[in-house]
Amino acid sequence: MGEKKKYLITSALPYANGPIHLGHLAGAYLPGDIYARYCRLKKRDVVYVCGTDEHGVPITITAEKLGKTPQEVVDYYYQDIKSSFEKFGMSFDNFSRTSLPIHHQTAQEFFLTLYQKGYMEKKSLQQFYCEHDRMFLADRYVEGTCPYCGYPEARGDQCEKCGKWLEPTQLIEPKCKICGNKPILKETTHYFLKLSKLQKPLESWIATKTHWRENVINFCKNWFKEGLEDRAITRDLRWGVPVPLEDARDKVLYVWFEAPIGYISSTREWAEKIGQPDRWKDYWMDPDNTKLVHFIGKDNIIFHAIIFPAMLIGHGGYVLPDDVPANEFLNLEGRKLSTSRNYAVWLNEFLEKYDADSLRYCLAINMPETRDADFSWRDFQARHNNELADILGNFVNRTFTFVKKYYNGRVPARGSLDSMDQELIQQMAKIRDQVGHFIDTFQFKEATRRFMDLARLANKYFNDREPWRTRKENPEACATTLNLCVQTTYSLAILMNPFLPFTSQKIWQMLQLKGRPEDAGWDQIGELAIPDGHPLGDVTILFRKIEDAVIEAEIEKLQKIAAELEAEKQQRLEEKEPPAYISIEAFRKVELKTARILKAERIPGADRLLKLQVDLGDETRQLVAGIAQHYTPEELIGKTIIVVANLEPAKIRGVESQGMLLAVSDGERLTLLTTDRDVPPGKPVS
Ligand code: MF3
Ligand code: ZN
Repeated sequence: MGEKKKYLITSALPYANGPIHLGHLAGAYLPGDIYARYCRLKKRDVVYVCGTDEHGVPITITAEKLGKTPQEVVDYYYQDIKSSFEKFGMSFDNFSRTSLPIHHQTAQEFFLTLYQKGYMEKKSLQQFYCEHDRMFLADRYVEGTCPYCGYPEARGDQCEKCGKWLEPTQLIEPKCKICGNKPILKETTHYFLKLSKLQKPLESWIATKTHWRENVINFCKNWFKEGLEDRAITRDLRWGVPVPLEDARDKVLYVWFEAPIGYISSTREWAEKIGQPDRWKDYWMDPDNTKLVHFIGKDNIIFHAIIFPAMLIGHGGYVLPDDVPANEFLNLEGRKLSTSRNYAVWLNEFLEKYDADSLRYCLAINMPETRDADFSWRDFQARHNNELADILGNFVNRTFTFVKKYYNGRVPARGSLDSMDQELIQQMAKIRDQVGHFIDTFQFKEATRRFMDLARLANKYFNDREPWRTRKENPEACATTLNLCVQTTYSLAILMNPFLPFTSQKIWQMLQLKGRPEDAGWDQIGELAIPDGHPLGDVTILFRKIEDAVIEAEIEKLQKIAAELEAEKQQRLEEKEPPAYISIEAFRKVELKTARILKAERIPGADRLLKLQVDLGDETRQLVAGIAQHYTPEELIGKTIIVVANLEPAKIRGVESQGMLLAVSDGERLTLLTTDRDVPPGKPVS
């Protein structure tokens, strides 16, 4: 198969359940945008789609909390997310929403095709139902005590404390999250996607994806090893895409089933908007010529590398993803983000104070491609001040200032080129190809570094040529130097466009060029495109330094939250019963001895108790023990057990007990401690 010509690019659909923060950007959005912008500059046929993911239980929970309808919540966040993406320079061809009719229709059609092709199976199962709220409870709507760690507020799908995945029925003392009542188990039916039937074709397809990132491949292999299980893809909820079958009228499609179909709906909406309603098929339905790339964060791998491709295979006719470059996570000042506790940097707030391009640069150069990365304010300041301002901004500024001052703002004539000039021109072409290669292979960190290398090189060229000296000593050489600096600025404007679209645009204006840098074309990088005598526009400062005090305030804000989180963690640890140490002397005061059971009998009227006579070596003792439900008197005779020999005698149900035997309970069964080998009675245990 030759090179694919059409590019269908997606970034994960963000939940319309909260604003965008830097973690989102570094994961799925900035890399997608850099890639899409680059592809367009390469004059490839690109459609880049996204939109908000507007269904799912968390959204209904937010709505309840705020006393609003789910529709009101998603309307708000759709606007919020869309506008913050625009300010960040995201260049989607379409930004849709999964609550639109076009999506409902697309998702329902998709479901029906899978259904007709035999990839759906109806099964009944027991699920929690709240009689008070008269509804089946989604996993997240059930809370209770975690069976693994005892955390009392574990969710039905996962315990946040110990991280274990749960089934709601595993919870001890389950409660309805809405009203707090105890739910009952009730039978319901759901449609299951037969993933088991799709595993084989899926596995052979993924086997061809040797170029995928290691984290994604390994993830898939592990799933295949365990075997894909059929998954319920309908839910008993009111908010979502209705299941298009008569026998499931009050059910909706599981959000993770319909959301990825949102990529298709968004492309359909785009096609309608440009007045060619069938155009989406040119991309989605032309697998031989289309390269589909999903940009996502690592928590979405299963859905994009396994489940959605399985759905596409089952449906048939669709293109499958060529790559799924999943990013790892972004931490903040060395600590995990917590959106619920506001330990995060929100895009909207950020852009009120700083430039989108500075953020894009800082995130791109630190992108969590192969491991988790960190955003720190000091690093942000350093990247902005020392790289963007001092290298890139400085080069453009000194070039423009020089031309303005000594050449009346007109690009001086280029004379003959010496080897140093030639070298600069060659470097432009070389760096263009390197940056292109790294973007094509999703190595954005490296691509960003290389792009800045050109600015670095250009600065060095300016220094080495010393135009402030040659201006008098060798005017032709000086003119050539400045001419080439202007040419380099032009190349930089295009080269930086995928990374710094706003700055690229500003430079374009300063150069007084027509159109937009986006339309110039990647191959223009390294061309000496600006004619002699071309008039330059006004110089503007591209990056103003960020002061220490500003950054310190940001750090302080986060540190305050981090300190609160730490204090809470500490408190939780302390609440957990401090270990009550005892001294070895105290322990020695407990006289543990081996004892042999001589006799055992039931105590009338006490069905849990047995009365034992035990041999303690030099004496016989009577014990009363609550083991009647776990041992018959007969099986006890002759066993060597461990007893506390110096326990104060006590009367239990009127019968004297002169000691206590040791036993262990696993919650259900009680097991006596005995000796591993044969030991005579009366021996001290230590
Ligand atoms: N809303 C999901 C998230 O933020 C991503 C959905 S991606 C899609 O994690 F493919 F399902 F749309
Ligand atoms: Zn309830």
